[in-house]
Amino acid sequence: MSAAADYLRYRLGDRRPVAAMVLGSGLGLLVDAIADAVRIPFAEVPGFPVSAVTGHAGEIVVGRLGGRDILVLSGRVHYYEAGDAAVMRPVIAAIADLGIERLLLTNSAGSVREDMPPSSVMMIEDHINYSGLNPLIGEASDARFVGMTAAYDAELRERLATAAETAGETLFGGVYMWFSGPSFETPVEIRMARTLGADAVGMSTVPETILARFFGMRVVAASVITNYGAGMTGAELSHAETKDMAPKGGARLARILGAMLENGGFDD
Ligand code: HPA
Repeated sequence: MSAAADYLRYRLGDRRPVAAMVLGSGLGLLVDAIADAVRIPFAEVPGFPVSAVTGHAGEIVVGRLGGRDILVLSGRVHYYEAGDAAVMRPVIAAIADLGIERLLLTNSAGSVREDMPPSSVMMIEDHINYSGLNPLIGEASDARFVGMTAAYDAELRERLATAAETAGETLFGGVYMWFSGPSFETPVEIRMARTLGADAVGMSTVPETILARFFGMRVVAASVITNYGAGMTGAELSHAETKDMAPKGGARLARILGAMLENGGFDD
């Protein structure tokens, strides 16, 4: 077991999280709902990356939500901070090492679809990695040839859809396309994304999904739509806008995830 997993196991005590969740920028409000929380800053965990982006706390919060133990990664480190697509590898590896089998990834994203406005929540059904980057480049073993046919777990997706119904929230479904950032896309890149079959664009999640599949975890993911893609409204995009808008859809996603936990959607 890695030093990181050892340390986390010691801090977790007898808690057995049913899932790990990565919360994107502005989605921190789920964390506030966690009871009996143990908070572990990334900086305390051996080998963990440290983020400097505003709005990303970079800590692990373990506690109870919806009657279950969960492990929440509040804040992540992005490719564009590190120039390393595998920057989250120690984190995903440690979670897998702890025996947590399910990973829920969230992000904020731009919508490429006129009919999916800001503050919508979109379940990721599949992704497009058109970046030329991959967190497994340089991995020496044959395990690097990870199948991505079932990248987003069919059963967990069904359970997420059911949870949205229970919570009375609309849940879109669609394809997430990864752009490296940190600059936003151009209007033509957004048109390209649409032509290629994307419904949303963003700067995270895809490398984490690839890593999680590499470590044998089951993945489910959702985007909070904070804005229309570049060129769709005529307005310039900004990080401030995406941060301001995230809590609205984030509250929706929090209700859906609360229902999923209560429904036993992350249980065996
Ligand atoms: N593009 C890329 N990433 C994003 C966007 C966007 O429009 N909105 C939030 N994250």
